[in-house]
Amino acid sequence: MTKPLIQVIGSLHLDFVTTTPRCPSAGETLQATRFDIGAGGKGANQAAACGRAAFVTSNEQDVQVEMSGVDTTNVREIPGTTTGSATIIVDEGAGGENRILFVPGAGFKGMDDAQEVLKRSGKTPDVVVLQGEIPRQTVLSIVEHYNASEQTQVVFNPAPVWPQGIPSKTLKGLGALIVNETECLLLTKSVASEGSKVTVVEKEEDLTEEILQQIGKEFHQLLSINTVIVTLGSKGVFYSQSNGSRGMIPAQQVEKVVDTTAAGDTFVGYFTAALARSIARGTKIEDFDVEAACKKANAASARCVARAGAMQSIPFGYE
Ligand code: ATP
Ligand code: RIB
Repeated sequence: MTKPLIQVIGSLHLDFVTTTPRCPSAGETLQATRFDIGAGGKGANQAAACGRAAFVTSNEQDVQVEMSGVDTTNVREIPGTTTGSATIIVDEGAGGENRILFVPGAGFKGMDDAQEVLKRSGKTPDVVVLQGEIPRQTVLSIVEHYNASEQTQVVFNPAPVWPQGIPSKTLKGLGALIVNETECLLLTKSVASEGSKVTVVEKEEDLTEEILQQIGKEFHQLLSINTVIVTLGSKGVFYSQSNGSRGMIPAQQVEKVVDTTAAGDTFVGYFTAALARSIARGTKIEDFDVEAACKKANAASARCVARAGAMQSIPFGYE
């Protein structure tokens, strides 16, 4: 089996995390529990998760573990701007649920030219992964570029979904679309606003298995997306593949949910690693075992929510 190449084109942040027993109301000052600074950003977290998924034994070289198996050649310093940052509030009273505000900084200034980003990324990857924390136009152009290529599968995690939405033509031909419930509502609205017949519901509670199945089928048929995944937090995950394989996988039981930050990123990274491995074995995307990949990613994400922080909470494969 050849070694598959995954490229992650996305954000890298410094996370400022305050843990609190509850969120303060407007105008209220509240004593919180703790403050931590750590590495984050959806792009960096997902790259770390892809790399860590490959560590199937614990005796790999230490230096590799430190880098999580990620080649960071293309991470560079941009003069005149700051590293992107995220201010995160972790609400202990709400089971480790988070609220996040990010300021993109270098993630915007350094990534505003899609052609330059593509040129710098070098070799053509087997799988490319993108999110919504770098300039919208850059992401749309790169997704469209790789969707048009035979060689590369795109895993798109539009998190967050931009207020202007995502054009249907960009989504056409995706290898995998991975969204959480909020993103699912916004994305279906965005696609429907262009006149496509896609099921739209107003509230997350309305995303029943039946509705998710409908949305999955519509995305396969209208947009030729091979795999549609909706992560459902503590409820687990829904997956739908264009070959007809679909279903719900319940979340794994966790003794204590400490901090859900990067649970979605862990899922995306572990899923992508499984997809890349399958492609490297010569399996066509239509025959990829999405259910098995989701089960693995679901288990990894459960590990992540039992720990504090973003990148630091992403497990290694051997765990
Ligand atoms: P975040 O923004 O917090 O990183 P997200 O909103 O992108 O997460 P979620 O749908 O909340 O993504 O969670 C992703 C996956 O993490 C879920 O599909 C599930 O596998 C796992 N997960 C989340 N919460 C829990 C939980 N309480 N217990 C077990 N697993 C969980
Ligand atoms: O998905 C979690 C990440 O989102 C955090 O690490 C934070 O940087 C925000 O971008």
